[in-house]
Amino acid sequence: MSPEFAATSPGVFANELTRPNRQTLRCNVGHMSEAVSPTGLVALEGLHALKHAYRFGASVEEIWTDDLDKALELSDAVAPDLRAVLEERATVVPTAQLREHSAQPIPTRVLAYARPRTWIVDQALPTVGQDTILLDDPRNSKNLGAVVRVAAAVGAAGVLAQGAVSFFDPMAVRGAAGLQWALPCCASAKLCRQLDELRPASDFALVGLDASGAVFDPTDFPGPTIFAFGSERTGLSTAVRERCDAIVSLPMTPQVSSLNLATCVSAVMYLRQYARGDHARPSVGDQ
Ligand SMILES: C[S@@+](CC[C@H](N)C(=O)[O-])C[C@H]1O[C@@H](n2cnc3c(N)ncnc32)[C@H](O)[C@@H]1O
Repeated sequence: MSPEFAATSPGVFANELTRPNRQTLRCNVGHMSEAVSPTGLVALEGLHALKHAYRFGASVEEIWTDDLDKALELSDAVAPDLRAVLEERATVVPTAQLREHSAQPIPTRVLAYARPRTWIVDQALPTVGQDTILLDDPRNSKNLGAVVRVAAAVGAAGVLAQGAVSFFDPMAVRGAAGLQWALPCCASAKLCRQLDELRPASDFALVGLDASGAVFDPTDFPGPTIFAFGSERTGLSTAVRERCDAIVSLPMTPQVSSLNLATCVSAVMYLRQYARGDHARPSVGDQ
């Protein structure tokens, strides 16, 4: 997919309307926060987030670094396809400017801004051989990001979230390494109702994950399947639970209560991938 950059001069915002605003871009570390600034831009904190967003077609509007040589060196090592983009588009800015506009220090010293991608629920529905992940009111943006990263790695059909969350929260983008542009990621406060409407035509199974469920067998549910995972604090909501065709669990050592949300998603998705015999793709390492 070819990247699409806005027609602004390198290093210069087209006008004041597209200039990121410090107050609106800053977020609370680890928790859901203002996702997209009123300017409509999303922060890509770090070279890896920029790399993935760029590869999967994000409209990247601005790239800042306080050390271009270091950014180019890193890009040669982990993302050679970014070198030309950095050379052409990156603006060297003071270190204080990078720090001021990011939620946390950025080790790779690259901060970029891109337009978010709008996905709809229908695009994230499962197919045979591609599961969908449903997060029921996730509370931690780092978990949200980690789930997107796993979903992209295993080739999931998409990630749905029930509740007032944003996949484009800066910490979620950082946690996902910018993979929100790689597969459908859609949050909705009325997701249950939307799924009720879509279900007759799509005919998917909805399987909830809860520590009290029957032991999970990844060979069950061979058709299109949505796996639903509960909130970090309260688990599966009644609304999602009562729509599930089955509730399953991953075995736990006695006296250990539950897995971290993103860890649980990862285990389930990889068990599914192996059960399908779809794990022959080699890993090409960090690039
Ligand atoms: C941190 S846990 C939530 C724990 C929460 N206190 C509860 O009461 O369920 C987040 C989600 O991960 C999934 N999960 C974690 N460990 C699990 C396990 N052993 N089996 C099935 N699902 C699990 C569930 O979907 C759960 O709602």
